[in-house]
Amino acid sequence: MVLLALVAAIGPLASGWADGEGGKRIYLARCQSCHGVHGDGKGPKARGLVPPPPDFTDPSYWQNKTDPYLFHVIQNGMGAMPGWSDTLSPDSIEDVLSYIRTFRP
Ligand code: HEC
Repeated sequence: MVLLALVAAIGPLASGWADGEGGKRIYLARCQSCHGVHGDGKGPKARGLVPPPPDFTDPSYWQNKTDPYLFHVIQNGMGAMPGWSDTLSPDSIEDVLSYIRTFRP
């Protein structure tokens, strides 16, 4: 029953789990409040954060950003961002990282 209710609740967002859909679901639930729905760093909770969340839609942001580095930051947090290692499994972190990469122009 509990599982059914859960599936019903997330069903609309989880239309297909492959190809970063899982990452998108995680992003919308946990990251967009600061990083913005469009990844531009303009989420409602970003106001007043110093330094602010980066703009993932800026091509220059992605220079020198390796997956191991980003994985580490998501796991452990940085500045005003909490670490996610208690909440997200390594697989989930990889999923959300692939989703963030889709913001790259
Ligand atoms: C409370 C607001 C907040 C939330 C929620 C949040 N972040 Fe962040 N994030 C930030 C801020 C602020 C920075 C910039 C930190 C700095 O530069 O010191 C940041 C930086 C980052 C960076 C860039 C690190 C770098 O050096 O370029 C990545 C990647 C990132 N966040 C991913 C995520 C992911 C994935 C989630 C969801 C699982 C998430 N963030 C949730 C506030 C947040």
